[in-house]
Amino acid sequence: MNNQKSLHNSQKTDSKERFTSKGFILSAIGSSVGLGNMWKFPYVTGKFGGAAFFLLFIICLIIVGLPILLAEMTIGRGGRGNASVSFFNLSGGSKYWGAFGLLSILTAFMIMSYYSVVAGWTLHYTVQSFTGLLFEEGSSYKEKFESFTSGYWPVLWQGIMMLFTGGVIVKGISGGIEKFNKILIPGFLIILLVLMFRSLTLPGAAEGASFFLKPDFSKLNAESALVALGHSFFSLSLGMGCMLTYGSYVKQTQSLGKATLAIGFGDLLYALIAGLVIFPTVFSYGLEPGEGVGLAFMALPAAFSQMSFGFFFGGLFFLLLAIAAFTSALSILEVPVSYAMHKWQWSRKKSAILVSILCFLVGIPSALSVGGVLGDFAPGGKTIFDWMDFITSYVLMPFGGLLVTLFTGYVWKKAGDEAGLKGFSYKAWIFLLRVVAPILIVCVFLYSVGLIQFT
Ligand code: PHE
Repeated sequence: MNNQKSLHNSQKTDSKERFTSKGFILSAIGSSVGLGNMWKFPYVTGKFGGAAFFLLFIICLIIVGLPILLAEMTIGRGGRGNASVSFFNLSGGSKYWGAFGLLSILTAFMIMSYYSVVAGWTLHYTVQSFTGLLFEEGSSYKEKFESFTSGYWPVLWQGIMMLFTGGVIVKGISGGIEKFNKILIPGFLIILLVLMFRSLTLPGAAEGASFFLKPDFSKLNAESALVALGHSFFSLSLGMGCMLTYGSYVKQTQSLGKATLAIGFGDLLYALIAGLVIFPTVFSYGLEPGEGVGLAFMALPAAFSQMSFGFFFGGLFFLLLAIAAFTSALSILEVPVSYAMHKWQWSRKKSAILVSILCFLVGIPSALSVGGVLGDFAPGGKTIFDWMDFITSYVLMPFGGLLVTLFTGYVWKKAGDEAGLKGFSYKAWIFLLRVVAPILIVCVFLYSVGLIQFT
């Protein structure tokens, strides 16, 4: 009885909202392309080995990320509901699998807490750039970044970001996200290409390009491999029910295999161009590639200051970046919102408002911990901001991804039919899900929780 009720409810809620085919692909690319590509990818690449790290990231993306991406979307479409409902339905009513929903929500809140902070920074930089204040002489871009993040303004910008995100989620799936992504994705690419041209022609750019493109394997260590895997989860928005939830709004006629390739290609392309923008600039301005979370915010203004109409291009760039962050934030927020709607039968409006407020509150400590009043509180050498990132990217998301691989590989027998795969591609997919991905994820997981010590 209970099972039937649950199945019935989920179908009722979801049938109101569906993506169009193109809208789905663009929105899923909108989810995967975001701060992960432009902000996080360059600084982790800088820190963990440059080109060799990039290569590892590509390998992880292909052999672990893409199979899990397809699996998540397949579970969402087959189970017709949020993470909890889909696992519950497809496992024949197991409450243990249903508990995955709670894990996704916890992960979504934690990601949102620092993601919205960085997204808020991009809004501040948009305003600073359009007004020209960013380019005033006096202090370096590094000092400017540090003086901004050490104050209270980041909390305000984070709040504005949450307000926008919540505002669109209130309107639902088809109420604007699709149209928005159609303009954003190509627009962002054009600006990035302009910037790439500028940064590649700066003096000393070659050194930066070779740091990013010429692998030096001696720079790699076990940690680089594991960070590359964790980042492939983050970048493809995996392991926290987000692609699964989007999958539940997809039509039966959509090819999920093609969608997977398009999303994977899009994500990689944006990461590649981001690297070709950031590293030549970093080297040209004598910045350190391992600078950390502020890297993009220190390097990009330097590139803009060298261009005619730099304030305009800079403003436009940060605005597009804010929007890219925003389309990712939408997909993160949709996870707890869809859960609340189903679990407590709340309206979309009520769920979106309450969850956004909660996300804002949970994010405040992160906003104040990058050099701000909570900056000195760093148990285990990590600030609150760092901990949120660490626990989500290297523990919770890989763990969520592991559950997806085990579920698709061993529990749900009809996954291949729903995914539309046959013959070799089906066999390869299932092999990656059953064997390769779980082994690699377990390695990341064990490393992350400190059970394995690398020397
Ligand atoms: N993939 C997004 C990015 O690269 C971040 C994200 C993580 C979005 C998890 C949704 C879920 O910026």
